[in-house]
Amino acid sequence: MADYRIAAIGGDGIGPEVVRAGIEVLRAAEQREGGFSLTFETFPWGSDYYFEHSRMMPDDGLETLKPFDAIYFGAVGDMRLPDDVTLWGLRLKICQGFDQYANVRPARVLKGVTSPLRNPGNLDWVIVRENSEGEYSGAGGRVHRGLPEEVAVDASVFTRTGCERIQRFAFELARKRPRKKLTLVTKSNAQRHGMVMWDEIFAALKGDYPDVETDKVLVDAATVRMTLHPDSLDVIVASNLHADILSDLAAALSGSIGVAPTANLNPEGRFPSMFEPIHGSAPDIVGKNVANPIGTFWTAAFMLESLGEAKAGARIMRAVERVTSAGSPLTPDLGGNATTDDVTRAVCEAIAGENE
Ligand code: IPM
Ligand code: MG
Repeated sequence: MADYRIAAIGGDGIGPEVVRAGIEVLRAAEQREGGFSLTFETFPWGSDYYFEHSRMMPDDGLETLKPFDAIYFGAVGDMRLPDDVTLWGLRLKICQGFDQYANVRPARVLKGVTSPLRNPGNLDWVIVRENSEGEYSGAGGRVHRGLPEEVAVDASVFTRTGCERIQRFAFELARKRPRKKLTLVTKSNAQRHGMVMWDEIFAALKGDYPDVETDKVLVDAATVRMTLHPDSLDVIVASNLHADILSDLAAALSGSIGVAPTANLNPEGRFPSMFEPIHGSAPDIVGKNVANPIGTFWTAAFMLESLGEAKAGARIMRAVERVTSAGSPLTPDLGGNATTDDVTRAVCEAIAGENE
């Protein structure tokens, strides 16, 4: 029987609350499904840890995580610390150190959830975000600090290898979905070096995937397509920053940023992949038991699917949608007045009570 070792990192803000809830749901799925087992180890890394140890995670943190099959992550971000310290010290350190170059962000309107769009149609997208370079390369610097002639440079770094591997990943993913459609998003009319290379690589790769329908759109026009013609999109591939922005729009259009999941994948499996809800640390609602755990449940389903337990993942999603379609219990962001615990209990019961 397969046993999967999962490193759980709650991180900051509501992260630990939702990860705790997610582990309960994963346990319920493990029990109901059978055939595999999960072993969790929880790591108290994040901003509180920083105040005690002057770092977000131990120096050998990546070594510690390396043998795990997956990382189940909450959120990072704390008002007492600059964002770049918390992010680069934990989340981005793991993403970059483990070469998790494919960031995958599904968006669809869960049953019972209302999209702010008048005609959401069949809004069912996966955004594939380049996760290792581009606008987030960290390359750049500042000179003449504070003086009138100060210069600040953020260089976007696009490599042929980086572009090609993320685009191939997106083609492979599109090919497995019913619609088999891939849209390339760039801004090659204005950014005339890296983005033009993205376009060229896409044109060259297309021939290897004749079964995948393709098109391309500029990032500004992509926001219009997503809003006015959601049906016209399936899988979207874009650079780190462009896909960051589009994925927030996608989460909002699918009804709540509280439900959206994301995966940071090292597709070759040389390192563990990391799974997290998209919502962030939400400091305004910490400790109030109102955080929406559904993003972390969907994340759990995604993690199981990636581990090869797609049936158990689908079971979690059926249970989630049983609860969302019933309209209760739901947390305030989805228009309800239930607590994190209420929603967690309801989803666990739906998993346990399913006859299939
Ligand atoms: C995300 C977030 C992060 C990002 C922030 C917190 C740096 O917005 O995961 O989308 O831009 O990568
Ligand atoms: Mg973002």
